[in-house]
Amino acid sequence: MAYAAFRSIGAYVPEKILTNEDLAKMVDTSDEWITKRTGIKERHIAAENEFTSDLGTNAAKIAIDRSGINPDEIDMVICATISPDYFCMPSTATIVSKKLGLKNITAFDISAACTGFVYILSIAKAFIESGMKKNVLIIGAEKLSSITDYTDRGTCIIFGDGAGAALISATENKEEAIIDVHTGADGTYADLLMTPNGGSGSEHDSLSEEVNSCFMQMKGNETFKVAVRTLTKDVKEILSENNIESDSVKHFIPHQANYRIIKAVGDALKMKDEQVVVTVGKYGNTSSASIPMAMNDIYENGKLQKGDLMLLDAFGGGLTWGSALVPFSPLV
Ligand code: UT7
Repeated sequence: MAYAAFRSIGAYVPEKILTNEDLAKMVDTSDEWITKRTGIKERHIAAENEFTSDLGTNAAKIAIDRSGINPDEIDMVICATISPDYFCMPSTATIVSKKLGLKNITAFDISAACTGFVYILSIAKAFIESGMKKNVLIIGAEKLSSITDYTDRGTCIIFGDGAGAALISATENKEEAIIDVHTGADGTYADLLMTPNGGSGSEHDSLSEEVNSCFMQMKGNETFKVAVRTLTKDVKEILSENNIESDSVKHFIPHQANYRIIKAVGDALKMKDEQVVVTVGKYGNTSSASIPMAMNDIYENGKLQKGDLMLLDAFGGGLTWGSALVPFSPLV
């Protein structure tokens, strides 16, 4: 049987930085409030002519370079995004594939909001284990600034732009295989986090009426409470189902939504500070990109080593959630 191994990581952040002080000039907020309630100090914002596919392509190039896998051998590209280049089609994954010059691939996007990276990891794993694909490029990429209302202080203070990518490939060595991935969803909470306009469920009569209103809306406080509850339960389950104690986890890499959520879940799992990866302060919440961006940070700091066990967990619109137990298994 083929197993799926996590080979490499890469990430990209756009140049422009939007600080809390900048936001305080735009909406009724302050650096003190944002820092205390979220842990975020700044986030990156893509240029006007820089699209989600550009962010994803830049991250993917790094992941491919670090993988030791010939790009011609990549047979599938999956992009998780809620801010695709184009409404409906073509998918951002096909655009990234073109920009990378990849041929002979299957390519598509999925929409699972901030849980997107865990979802595409599970899809890559399933395709590889079934024998249908061998080398899958997965990308979480977001230009959230394109769907953020910068007059709404409840959302604009947390979101940022960026991308992360990883190469998942087939192996016969079970030691280096992804151990488990959990994914879940509950549509009864759909109204907590939405872009209510722009689709066939919109209350607007025509697309032209809503061109300027395809923004994210969030019931932040309710989302916060469900996030802590659901994540804690899900992560405890994946650990116990696999007979793994939390102190065997080298790096706990949660979705970077809000430092208080990360801290609450980390504490519930009795994680030590050095196990928990926190990058929300410098990138904000980049939805599907946040986990691979955080992973890339520890890779570039030399902290992520071959064989290290990573525990991923995420939560987002839908509602969706997921977790994964992943040894880092580079080829080179
Ligand atoms: O990534 C996917 C899932 N998303 C999340 O997990 C996000 C989860 N939610 C959050 O991170 C937090 O709920 C927020 C950061 C969005 C909001 O923080 P909060 O602590 O839940 O604030 P709140 O909405 O309960 O509001 C508390 C107070 C209110 O004032 P009053 O009614 O107590 O006078 C708000 O009006 O803070 C006020 N407030 C703000 N004040 C300054 C809300 N937003 C701001 C702001 N600046 N930006």
